[in-house]
Amino acid sequence: MMIRPPKPHPSPAVRLAPSILSADFARLGEEVRAIEAAGADFVHFDVMDNHYVPNLTIGPQVCEALRPHVQIPIDMHLMVEPVDALVPLFAKAGADCITFHPEASRHVDRTLQLIRAHGCKAGIALNPATPLAWMDHLMDKLDLVLLMSVNPGFGGQTFMAHTLHKLREARRRIEAHTATGGQPIWLEVDGGVKLDNIGAIVQAGADICVAGSAIFSAADAAGGYHGVIRALQQAAASPTDFPSSNAPRRTTPCH
Ligand code: DX5
Ligand code: ZN
Repeated sequence: MMIRPPKPHPSPAVRLAPSILSADFARLGEEVRAIEAAGADFVHFDVMDNHYVPNLTIGPQVCEALRPHVQIPIDMHLMVEPVDALVPLFAKAGADCITFHPEASRHVDRTLQLIRAHGCKAGIALNPATPLAWMDHLMDKLDLVLLMSVNPGFGGQTFMAHTLHKLREARRRIEAHTATGGQPIWLEVDGGVKLDNIGAIVQAGADICVAGSAIFSAADAAGGYHGVIRALQQAAASPTDFPSSNAPRRTTPCH
């Protein structure tokens, strides 16, 4: 009788990265523990400097204070300009992944090397109007690419539907890279991810979804976030059409 090898553990449809920008800042430790307990895969930590973006949030000391509260990786999204001086501070404070906006760094390749040299996964974040061409000469130095599906700076904005085309094209480039022996690169989407669009977003190629307001505005009756995180995981695993009220139109080529 043929003995079948054990089935590999099914990989999750998507990894969820709740953005603590929408959490209760007066109870951040409790909030990150609650999302981890509910099954979140990352803590998404939005750093805004009131220079690169018109908002001001949190820095390395808050990262350091939160680090002992959770085991899951801290996914640092730097919306700051310049970038390099902050990299060692956030690495020391416990960040696991550090992503920055390439327009905000004078030497993008050097910044990516700096992040990896500090033991973190390195990523670039591309704004809605920033072309995927930024990936072209960096593929070997990228651990993740984050596509912004809103303009950076605020939570609670509406997902820009043309991001779906950009996601498909970014996914195609990543698959071409790994098919020729390149390292894996995560494809993350950030901004306006909700229950009614996460299926289409994952279908378009995202493997990490950031969600801020969708999670932190939907606490369980008894506290915690089990219900909304389970619902997002289920919606992510069932491909759906994009909500017709916000249907994607191809407006610009993705390169
Ligand atoms: C926006 C931030 C996002 C934001 C997402 O600049 O990078 O991470 O918190 O929030 P929602 O999910 O509410 O759009
Ligand atoms: Zn973010």
